[in-house]
Amino acid sequence: MGYRMAGTITEQLARVEARVSELPKRLQAHIARARAVGRGLSAVLVADTGRVDLALAGHDLYRAASDEEMLAIADRRGIVPGALEIEQPLLLHGPLAAIWMADEGGVADKEVLDAVQHHTTFAPGLGALAATVFLADKIDPNKIQRRPWLSEVEQLARDGKWKAAVRSYIQTLDADLKRQGVTPHPLAQEAFDFLNP
Ligand SMILES: [Fe+2]
Ligand SMILES: [Fe+2]
Repeated sequence: MGYRMAGTITEQLARVEARVSELPKRLQAHIARARAVGRGLSAVLVADTGRVDLALAGHDLYRAASDEEMLAIADRRGIVPGALEIEQPLLLHGPLAAIWMADEGGVADKEVLDAVQHHTTFAPGLGALAATVFLADKIDPNKIQRRPWLSEVEQLARDGKWKAAVRSYIQTLDADLKRQGVTPHPLAQEAFDFLNP
């Protein structure tokens, strides 16, 4: 582990892609769509295309893991899940993917790791790279089909307004979750307030 194995970004991407190739096909297809969106969006939002692509390649490495698996891996990694993560273990899939990318993928780029870790909720203090990753994941064309309100998020993103796009996403999802009786993640609210224009 450590710096010597990190290698070039191409080598890091190859390690992540090898792992992705073991994931269920549907998930691989989502990852491919998000990466395609990310390539276009990174130019508009002035984020480094290669680093956005690396983050998107790895963002859902644990998306298909079961709740039990995610809680068990978190436990082995010394992550103490909060009440919200115990209630919704899916919230752990970003943090676990970031840990895999750092430890097994040799990725040392903190912005890439932060983007992966927080791709579900976003977080205060994140910049254009993480926003590009966050938004590319959310405006996967298949997701827009299921949730038509995402087209507004897409429009803001394509207009280069990543802060407004992220805020719009968080606000609408928050209302959605509350209707379903699901507790929204406090990091999303903190990010929303942080991005207040
Ligand atoms: Fe995800
Ligand atoms: Fe995703």
